[in-house]
Amino acid sequence: MCGIVGYIGHREAYPILISGLKRLEYRGYDSAGVAVLNGDLNIYKKQGKVAALEQHIDETPIHGSIGMGHTRWATHGPPNDINAHPHQSSSGLFAIIHNGIIENYSLLKKELVEKGYTFKSDTDTEVLIQLIEDIYINMEVSAEEAVRYALNKVVGAYGIVVICKAEPDKLITARRSSPIAIGIGEGEYIIASDATPIVAYTKNVIYLDDDEIATLTIDSHTIRTIKNEVKTPYIQKIEMELEALEKGGYEHFMLKEIFEQPKSIAESMRGRIDPTTNTVWLGGLADVREQLERARRLIIIACGTSWHAGLVAEYLLEEYARIPVEVEYASEFRYRNPIVKKDDVVIAISQSGETADTLAAVKIAKQKGALVLGVCNVVGSSIARETHAGVYTHAGPEIGVASTKAFTAQVSVLSLMAIYISELKDSLNRHKSQEVLTGLLQVPEKVRQILKQNEKIVEIAALFCEASNFLYLGRGYNFPVALEGALKLKEISYIHAEGYPAAEMKHGPIALIDENMPVVFIATKDESYEKVVSNIEEVIARKGRVIAVVTAGDEVIPELADFVIEIPAAPQSIQPLLSVIPLQLLSYHIAVMRGCNVDQPRNLAKSVTVE
Ligand code: G6P
Repeated sequence: MCGIVGYIGHREAYPILISGLKRLEYRGYDSAGVAVLNGDLNIYKKQGKVAALEQHIDETPIHGSIGMGHTRWATHGPPNDINAHPHQSSSGLFAIIHNGIIENYSLLKKELVEKGYTFKSDTDTEVLIQLIEDIYINMEVSAEEAVRYALNKVVGAYGIVVICKAEPDKLITARRSSPIAIGIGEGEYIIASDATPIVAYTKNVIYLDDDEIATLTIDSHTIRTIKNEVKTPYIQKIEMELEALEKGGYEHFMLKEIFEQPKSIAESMRGRIDPTTNTVWLGGLADVREQLERARRLIIIACGTSWHAGLVAEYLLEEYARIPVEVEYASEFRYRNPIVKKDDVVIAISQSGETADTLAAVKIAKQKGALVLGVCNVVGSSIARETHAGVYTHAGPEIGVASTKAFTAQVSVLSLMAIYISELKDSLNRHKSQEVLTGLLQVPEKVRQILKQNEKIVEIAALFCEASNFLYLGRGYNFPVALEGALKLKEISYIHAEGYPAAEMKHGPIALIDENMPVVFIATKDESYEKVVSNIEEVIARKGRVIAVVTAGDEVIPELADFVIEIPAAPQSIQPLLSVIPLQLLSYHIAVMRGCNVDQPRNLAKSVTVE
């Protein structure tokens, strides 16, 4: 949450900061601000999106080649101009941008107020910059040392960039639990919360570790810890093309990402299935094969859509690897002293690799002695680095706040993991694993066929876009899809929607059904097909309006349902990868018809780096 960008080099900083903020806007869009050093610190900030800031600055030329920019997702204090970042210290000597939460800010603030400091905003960030100034003035240390001393007093999470007017040739940045990437160009550095603002300038990047502070001048960087140990930075190559960050002619990133799924699913499996031997190769798990073979239980931790992918994985892993699986919300797992044994394997699923609760849950599982694996999309992200081993999903950058292609890439990678573990445990016969792997390889083409029904889904969306509530029902592998369909609709159209296991409908939701309640059934041909047909009858008997996702060729449900959307036949474990696609499109079109901002829904952020 919150996007951070910083620049020091030979070019004008402002255009680089603004275009960086636009790339990072998916992290938060309550307010935006920039500071550029040019003798004085020129600070502009504005409630609302980056476009509002640009408009506010309008034609004012902002010159200077050192600066910072921020896009905010409000934690402390409402989203207004005053609480927007950058924040300045009392004397105006320092400016800061911050992503994270300073948990002991009220105690620090009290001490500073007693010393005579006054505060303009409600933010924890302003407290940190006042503290830095206080140390700088009273201890007579360098700006870098003042930042270091201050961070030693801080409890909480931070990714920060600091400029000191009295030391105008440097930019200082630090992290704890909130990501900081430093792009190394020719005579310039670009700091950002992730690699997306950096890739246009350089592919060489350093990802700071927790408790590290970097001091950058135009042509040098030094990194030390807050305990003052000097660190040798590890420079990595960003594997990301600029086109992946553009809308590519689509109206929204979400639509582009839905339509990219034939490619992203194929990428997530590329080089991982050997069609000659019908086996799975996951290089990231090669070193932990023995531990996986010995594993007695798997615990999956995740949040949001990734948690839904985890639920699909529960069905997959129990069916194929015959190993008990528990799926936990990371935010619950981390605070309930969970029982984790040494022969448990924990799998953390996270698109961003930065979700604060999932990251904290990973650390707890490690402390308890479990092997912890990551299933992340963002290469080099905190969870990817914190886990012992893992598998990247390789879906490419996902910009739309509502997750689509990341979900299908997670499910396809988790399907491969289920087969991989089944091979280690010898729990699945060759014939079955061949059927599943062949089915997985056919998914990209089948998704392409589903996407051809886009126009039909537009028509259905037009009929239901005024609804106030929706119910999504599915069983077995399609139950997590029902949850995911409901979440997509809620997130972007603000229509209340609930996902339920179809049979549970009788224990509550059935009371809601009348002629105003659209019910989306995921009713494909699988073990529970007949039972779901009965559930559809029960809804129709109560005048509910039924939209059903069915297997192509189904002759029963089209006679019952108001609308059907067909998906190609596939083994049941593969169906979530197909049945979710029409639900993504349905919520997208409904949200567009309701005039909602699909890519940046209110109150949400793509990367939730605060708990
Ligand atoms: C936020 C995003 C969701 C995402 C969830 C978990 O809520 O809006 O799309 O599913 O975080 O994020 P992660 O990056 O850990 O998968």
